[in-house]
Amino acid sequence: MAIHDPLAILTDRFRAAIAAAYPHLEGPVDPLIAPGKQASLGDFQCNAAMSLAKRVGQNPRQVAQTIVARADLSPIADPLTERSIAGPGFINVRLRPRALADLLEHVDNPALGVDAPGSTETVVVDLCGVNLAKQMHVGHLRATVIGDALARLFERLGHRVIRQNHVGDWGLPIAMVTHRLMGLTASGAVDGARLTLDDLDRAYRDAKRECEADEEGLEAARRYGLGPKALAELEEQVAGAREAEAAARQTLVRLQRHDPDVHAAWKRIADVTMAECIAAFRRLGCTLCERDSAGESSYSEELAGIVDDLVSRGVAEQSDGALVVRVEGIEEPCLVRKRDGGFLYATSDLAGIRRRVRKLGADRVIYTVDARQSLHFAQVFAAARKAGYTLRPGAPGHARLEHAAFGTILGEDGRPFKSRSGENVKLSALIDEAAERCLSAVRQRSPDLPEPEQRRIAEAIGIAAIKFADLCNDRARDYTFSFDRMLAFEGFTGPYLLYALVRVRSIFRKAQERGVRSDPAAPLLINDPAEKTLALALLRYPASLASAAQSLEPHRVCQYLYELAGAFATFFDACPVLQATDSANQQSRLRLCDLTGRVLADGLHVLGIPTLDRM
Ligand code: ARG
Repeated sequence: MAIHDPLAILTDRFRAAIAAAYPHLEGPVDPLIAPGKQASLGDFQCNAAMSLAKRVGQNPRQVAQTIVARADLSPIADPLTERSIAGPGFINVRLRPRALADLLEHVDNPALGVDAPGSTETVVVDLCGVNLAKQMHVGHLRATVIGDALARLFERLGHRVIRQNHVGDWGLPIAMVTHRLMGLTASGAVDGARLTLDDLDRAYRDAKRECEADEEGLEAARRYGLGPKALAELEEQVAGAREAEAAARQTLVRLQRHDPDVHAAWKRIADVTMAECIAAFRRLGCTLCERDSAGESSYSEELAGIVDDLVSRGVAEQSDGALVVRVEGIEEPCLVRKRDGGFLYATSDLAGIRRRVRKLGADRVIYTVDARQSLHFAQVFAAARKAGYTLRPGAPGHARLEHAAFGTILGEDGRPFKSRSGENVKLSALIDEAAERCLSAVRQRSPDLPEPEQRRIAEAIGIAAIKFADLCNDRARDYTFSFDRMLAFEGFTGPYLLYALVRVRSIFRKAQERGVRSDPAAPLLINDPAEKTLALALLRYPASLASAAQSLEPHRVCQYLYELAGAFATFFDACPVLQATDSANQQSRLRLCDLTGRVLADGLHVLGIPTLDRM
């Protein structure tokens, strides 16, 4: 990748100088390049002399002198001299204004300086992972929003991305609700044609309750002699629950055999759930569609084969009647078949890895799933590797499996985010509320826009706020859901970034009104410190995407965009654009505005955040 970022260029040059000056040092040395502490001294500084001093047995100043004598910074910075060294051995670097303009020319293209990758990879992103018959709630937000941002990011960098929605659509719990639904439809209690996800959610909970035998209660009633009435009630409950569970097991068997009635009921549940799921995520602007669904059911026919394969090659072994894959470094083995012959969550994930690597051609599989499943993925990844399912056909080595784990969304009380009554908060209700809260702000700001337009803008701001709040923190950490914080127009928020972009766009509207034409080929003049800071921020865009992809951390893009918006605000305050004293400066600044607008829009698009022309 061609480097346009001065920080990266300087790192390279100083590293080379240090290697030339001290050829006997072992391993690469970090030249510790940082933005200059004092603008009057320089734009960047190299802080390596202090840490190198001990290793090379010289005093830091001597080390700095040695580096200065070797470092070639042309053409991007002024040559270094004795006067570049400050204090104990800081080396100050001043960039040449012309150099910044030249570097910017390389970024001012449709790709915004992001080069095609050296080699294109196939990246599978496992995202969303909703479960059938369960209402979409805030917990599903992260698995979709973060996964979507990573998918977009890898696409933006030129890779081939395959989204996979590993829907929880198989197994005993699903059979329970299928059984219950069949009963409800048969008795006419629900209308199969008008089923909603809320109905399913209720049926799911009822089915679960119905199958939950209060064995402990019965045991206690017997032990403490709670009386014949209590005992009889408990006996009845337990017998009923066992019966319900047996019926659900029967249903599961029928489902596995493709019994037409059971299969039709199951399919109905799947269709209703997925239709609402896709609608919710479309509303959120997530790129996830029906054909990305590859639920657990899609692996059901492969599970017996997987287990046979693992056993026949000695990868899996018996343990207490069950089958497990023991993996190095993890005490608990990966369970692939229960004693009763049933397969598990891990078994379908192993089938998933095999298909993704062998059929879909994955070089990399990224799972955006709750951090509470870390042990599961560690086991499954190691087991898949042991089984050879990660070996890429037609390419050397293993596909990389990565768990992009995320933390929990907390309520203001510090506990997992729930409604006042302790229920999970429905995702659609959450978006409604965000949009509703934005509406009054929009009405205030733009009273003369027609109502539907105000609503459209409010919805976009609300969605930007929710998604940005989810993406802007280190994903592994828990975060507190707060409408007040995320909807603020100032600070590290979605609305602030949307507003920054709107501001840029309005400059061009004003320019048009005043008959100012902007020349995309006008020479860039980077003289004012605020222009310099903005230019440096713009140049960092490609590296910020690369680092987010490297660490699977979209928050790095959020942080970058926030800094860019800040640099732009300072620039806009300090440097008149349309009112510039001469046309050369006016045209150069218009170009800076235009480039800023394009980088902001592109970055928000990578994050999956909708943008606006006015708000
Ligand atoms: N359905 C699962 C759950 O709700 C998430 C699926 C994640 N993806 C996977 N390949 N296991 O916990």
